[in-house]
Amino acid sequence: MFGRDRIEYKTPDQVRLMRRAGLVVADVHDAVRAAVAVGVTTADLDAVAADVIRAAGATSSFLGYEGYPATVCVSVNDEVIHGIPGERVLRPGDVVSVDAGAVVGGWHGDAAFSVVLPGPDGAAADPADVALVDATERAMWAGIAALAAGGRIGDVGVAVEEVAEGGPYGIVEDYVGHGIGTQMHQDPDVPNYRTRGRGPRVRPGLCVAVEPMLTRGDATTQLCEDEWTVVTDDGSRAAHCEHTVAVLEGGLWVLTAPDGGAAGLAPFGVTVAPLD
Ligand code: MF3
Ligand code: CO
Repeated sequence: MFGRDRIEYKTPDQVRLMRRAGLVVADVHDAVRAAVAVGVTTADLDAVAADVIRAAGATSSFLGYEGYPATVCVSVNDEVIHGIPGERVLRPGDVVSVDAGAVVGGWHGDAAFSVVLPGPDGAAADPADVALVDATERAMWAGIAALAAGGRIGDVGVAVEEVAEGGPYGIVEDYVGHGIGTQMHQDPDVPNYRTRGRGPRVRPGLCVAVEPMLTRGDATTQLCEDEWTVVTDDGSRAAHCEHTVAVLEGGLWVLTAPDGGAAGLAPFGVTVAPLD
C-alpha cells in the first residue's frame, strides 16, 4: 500500500470507508456552525462536536493525539490553529476557526472552517475580517482544484499563493496540509506556498488534507504556553479552512463536503467524481 515515496495510496473501497469519516466531520461542522454565537464558550462548541461524533459511533481524531485534551480545536482572532476549547466566551466580531477530525473503522477525516461573528448590537462584522475568511475559503478551493490537473503536490501551494496575493494576506508556513488515511497525519506534506521542488505526483489513490491558514498581517507564528495554541506574532487575525480530498481515476472527491465538493469546485471548472 505504501509506495517508495511512503505515500499510502488508497483503493476505491478504502476511499469509500474514508467517506464515512468525512461525512461525520461534515455533520460536526453543521452542528458547530449552528452553535457558534456571541456568549457561547469554546468548550460549549467542543461539547456539541463530541455529541455528534459519539452519536455517529465515531471517535475524535484529535482527542488524545500527542496528548491533545479536547475533541476539536477552536481558534479565535489571532489564534491560527490548535486553540484548546475552554471557558473563553465568544464576543461580537470574533473570527472563529473550528477544526474537527473523526475516525470511523480506522479511517480518518479532517476539516476546518472559519466564520466571523456579527459586530456589537447587531452591527455588521469588520469587512476586512469577512474578506479574510472569504479569501481563505477561496484559497482552499483553489488549492483543491489544482489537484484535478494530475500534476504535483506543489501545485496546491501555487494556487493558494495566487489567491493570498490578492489580499495581500500572510500565508502561514509553519504548518502545512498532509496526507491522511489510516492516520490523521501521513506523507506527503502539502505546503500552502511555492516550494523549490514540485513534490510528489498527484495520482489516483492519493488522499490529502488541504488546509491554508491566512492572516491579515505577517505570516510568522508563536506557540503559546499551553504548548498547543498557535498565534500570529504580530497579533493579526487569522483564518483556517480545510477539507480532506481523494484523488480518483475519474477526478476528485472532497470527502468532508456533503456534496463531494461540487459547489466549491464549480467556479474552477472542476467536476467531482464520487464513487457511490
Ligand atoms: N486538524 C489538525 C491538522 O490538520 C490537527 C489538529 S491537532 C490535534 O493537522 F492535536 F488537535 F489533533
Ligand atoms: Co489537517
